Amino acid sequence: MSMSRQLFATKPLSVLLEELQGEQRLRRILGPVQLSALGIGAIIGAGIFVATGSAAHNVAGPALMLSYVVAGITCIFAALCYAEFAAMVPVAGSAYTYAYATLGEMFAWIIGWDLILEYAVGAATVANGWSGYFQSVIAKFGIQLPAALAGPPIVYDAAHGHFVATQGIVNLPAVIVVAVVTWVLVKGIQESASFNAAMVGLKVAAVFFVILVGAFYVNPENWHPFAPYGMSGLSFFGKPLMGQVNTGGQPVGMLAGAAIIFFAYIGFDSVSTHAEEAKNPRRDVPIGIISSLVICTVLYIAVVAVLTGMVPYDRISVDAGVSDAFKQAGLPWAEFIIAAAGVAGITSVLLVLMLSAPRVFLAMARDGMVPKSFFGDVHPKFKTPWKSTILIGVFVVFLAGFLPIDALLHMTNIGTLFAFLIVCAAVLIMRRTNPDAERPFRAPFYPVVPILGILSCLMLMFSLPVENWYRLLGWLLIGFVIYFGYGYRHSAVRAHLQKES
Ligand code: ALA
Repeated sequence: MSMSRQLFATKPLSVLLEELQGEQRLRRILGPVQLSALGIGAIIGAGIFVATGSAAHNVAGPALMLSYVVAGITCIFAALCYAEFAAMVPVAGSAYTYAYATLGEMFAWIIGWDLILEYAVGAATVANGWSGYFQSVIAKFGIQLPAALAGPPIVYDAAHGHFVATQGIVNLPAVIVVAVVTWVLVKGIQESASFNAAMVGLKVAAVFFVILVGAFYVNPENWHPFAPYGMSGLSFFGKPLMGQVNTGGQPVGMLAGAAIIFFAYIGFDSVSTHAEEAKNPRRDVPIGIISSLVICTVLYIAVVAVLTGMVPYDRISVDAGVSDAFKQAGLPWAEFIIAAAGVAGITSVLLVLMLSAPRVFLAMARDGMVPKSFFGDVHPKFKTPWKSTILIGVFVVFLAGFLPIDALLHMTNIGTLFAFLIVCAAVLIMRRTNPDAERPFRAPFYPVVPILGILSCLMLMFSLPVENWYRLLGWLLIGFVIYFGYGYRHSAVRAHLQKES
């Protein structure tokens, strides 16, 4: 059997659908509202509460409002493509499964490995943001952690473009929150879903509070100059193409801002990893994906308009922009409420991201891409993929404990944009290879939506600082070593092809 035959072998749609009937299934307990809540739970978090501050201050100014529009539109293209697939193949595994059905085994591996990166590194980013907000809440009670336990040993100095040592040794609150969330997830999704619903309620209330109360403190003069760093900020592998760069050589401007706060939208895609736990996946998963994204887009743009209207962009806090704006407006009680709700809200993001990564492994294990006895093992009582949940938990603890937030955030963004790009491409391919497959939901304006999705993801990927490309390639190389060391030889599709020949 030739190598390329296996590398590009696709898993037929019919096999995927057949597998849905098999053993070791997850419980079908989630309805449309719960799925949308899971989506919102995964979306609103460290991105809006933490990353917005430094993006407005250092990269985009008030034009960050438009950055949110650009990133939101990019995500809507991708979400429509996700929804088409999620309705067609409602199994755990999300983009990994879609790639296996369209682009072949090697691409499926790449995307599966990339999704693990997205969810695990994303969780570490969020745990870092959580730690910052948590520390600002306990500071209100006069509690301050020793510097050695308050943050990672290095931070990224954007102005000079390199890492510098800090007084920190480990980000202890981040480590603890990841450990607790891992424990909750091993115990089961039912408990997690109700815990999640409470957290989501709190943070949506906090966001409304910011918009409605903050609106009274807006001074439109703060929106001038609107785009102090310009409207672009595009570079190509580190070479500035359009717009300004900062002293560290990093692109700045509205588009560069979009590439950073793209993080705030990540999470709607995780709804598709829960397709297998949905009661009526063909209808409810597209509803969950699209409604959660649209709701968050509208809320975000309003929050950023209020934030940049309340505080001149160069005085917005880079650590806790949203809550600090209320402090600057002379409302310390409001700052406290927002910071506390922020902690709760960010926790729910962590929960969903850490719930998603083991489910991608589960799908990969079923195909023989990773060892089934470990990654495919569903706990007899809790019905959760418990071993891989713990493994991911340990990995995230290390990332969150020792690495700084911006490096983690950029890495998550590039990985996610890459996954979105592949999903958009997979929709184009699937429409050709399986034109007659049943599609309960179709991405509209075909082929415009997937093509614009691909182009806008590429544009944002290029707007990120260049070292992220190297990190992404490094991660993919490690993935290739594992694939050729294990997955290639144990693949279920390989066994099938060998039988045929
Ligand atoms: N969108 C999620 C957040 O902002 C990942 O925390």
